[in-house]
Amino acid sequence: MTTIENRLPADYRAASLRADARAGLSATPKSLPPKWFYDAQGSALFEKITELPEYYPTRAERSILLQVAPEIAARTRAATLIELGSGSSEKTRLLLSALRSEGTLRGYVPVDVSESALAAAGDALAADYPGLIVHAVVADFGADLGIPASPDGDVTRLVAFLGSTIGNMVPAERGVFLRRVRERLTPGDRFLLGTDLVKDPAVLVAAYDDEAGVTAAFNKNVLSVLNAELGADFDPDAFEHVAVWDAAHEWIEMRLRARSAQSVTVRDIGLTVDFAAGEEMRTEVSAKFREAGVRAELAAAGLELRSWWTDPEGQFALSLAAPV
Ligand code: AVJ
Repeated sequence: MTTIENRLPADYRAASLRADARAGLSATPKSLPPKWFYDAQGSALFEKITELPEYYPTRAERSILLQVAPEIAARTRAATLIELGSGSSEKTRLLLSALRSEGTLRGYVPVDVSESALAAAGDALAADYPGLIVHAVVADFGADLGIPASPDGDVTRLVAFLGSTIGNMVPAERGVFLRRVRERLTPGDRFLLGTDLVKDPAVLVAAYDDEAGVTAAFNKNVLSVLNAELGADFDPDAFEHVAVWDAAHEWIEMRLRARSAQSVTVRDIGLTVDFAAGEEMRTEVSAKFREAGVRAELAAAGLELRSWWTDPEGQFALSLAAPV
């Protein structure tokens, strides 16, 4: 049984894209939030990224889950899995299967901004897990978290935020986000967080600037989104993909660099934007983490790190945390 609850106001996507484009393109330096990469084309490109030889995070996180999903199930005995930004259903299945084997699983609550993605994923999971109650929530976890209040204190819930999506937030945003998660947890609930780890900058940069150019196409896709949805006239070929390691902040930054001086019009918001030759616009921050930092950020939000697992190469980590 799949139900879908839409928590987004009507016209949310168009209104927030207009606001983000106006703010980001008027700022110095210019920037655009990474959430706008993911239209149908961008989501397909991201799926291709996860299969690239250079892009290790998805494989590393999957290998951890393959190892520890049964332990997570045994430790949490959760009845409900709430997944924020439910992306790859493959990782979801590892958790659902482990909770089903544990005998505690009752419901799955995927939370995502894309109603169509939720409907498709929800139906597939409901078919493969007979009896599973799927309650999909359309929400923007950058704004309203979409985590339903606990229906009653007896239902243990596991809130999962996988894929190192938290890396798209800067530290202050992460603090706000983690406190919001904490507010929604009752004592028996647990929070499962996936984080990519600090490592050799050459490995990191290659993961965001692959040989085949898939990440470059993914990065430029945000310009196509503005063209399609706001009537902008960006020429994606007039921009170059840039990925740099910011050692001070310990994050990868993706940028689009104007190959020449140019002027772009964003028709639907009546904005004309000038780019100087070589000017760089930030399109994504992908923060990388260390155990001590994750533990401290969780603690600052009222969450205690109970388990920390990495893959054998120490590339990626899963954290299981409890409210304090
Ligand atoms: C989906 C945000 C985790 O930061 O690694 C992949 C997105 N950007 N390649 C990441 C992404 C460029 C990805 N996250």
